[in-house]
Amino acid sequence: MIITMDGPAGAGKSTVARALARRLGFRFLDTGAMYRAVALAGKRAGLDWDAPDDLARLARSLDLQVAGDRILLNGEDVTEAVRASDVTAVTRYAADNPQVREHLVKLQRRLAAAEQNVVTEGRDQGTVAFPNAECKIFLTASPEERARRRLRDLQAQGEPVTFEQVLAAQQQRDQQDASRTVGPLRAAEDAVTLCTDGLSLEQVVDRLEKIAKSSSMPPVP
Ligand code: C5P
Repeated sequence: MIITMDGPAGAGKSTVARALARRLGFRFLDTGAMYRAVALAGKRAGLDWDAPDDLARLARSLDLQVAGDRILLNGEDVTEAVRASDVTAVTRYAADNPQVREHLVKLQRRLAAAEQNVVTEGRDQGTVAFPNAECKIFLTASPEERARRRLRDLQAQGEPVTFEQVLAAQQQRDQQDASRTVGPLRAAEDAVTLCTDGLSLEQVVDRLEKIAKSSSMPPVP
């Protein structure tokens, strides 16, 4: 069974998707980390971001492995490195590149096919990567709530940012995510939308577990 989890940045998708996968005993696939890893590789190779074919060629040449919660780039564990803000700043070059998207979607399908049960998290999982998934979730929250959560995370990492800066950057990312010509952020028609405002992680995962278990066959063990 495939459960897709899409939604805007800061809706809590990552934490929720991981927790849901753990509870159901499913594998978790963090597709954002794959786009981030391609961007990291491009940055390290000193690529010209205005040459999308070069980035696509590089992406196709990479050995990207997703091992549990870790992402390996040519054998190196880059799980933390891909989340640095200088990588976040250039990840859009990977995410906006149709050839990179095509390659990563293929890879995501291959990874999911090797597993029986997967929770896959991103922006286009229910719409493009797995249109036939048995259970599709669109997780969202109000812009202010999302910015508050992101601010807490960044402050915990020691980044000196204000609420206004986080909110402005988030609006820009939302705009970029929604206006992308290939794989834009939107809820699949058959997705269940859940707004997480005012809900604890536990409450969100409880609701999603119910939704997953009531989804079509095969039944969750
Ligand atoms: O979710 P995360 O913030 O790690 O995603 C990193 C970037 O990759 C985001 O800006 C998002 O737009 C992009 N992304 C995407 N398609 C996915 C997952 C992430 O375009 N399936």
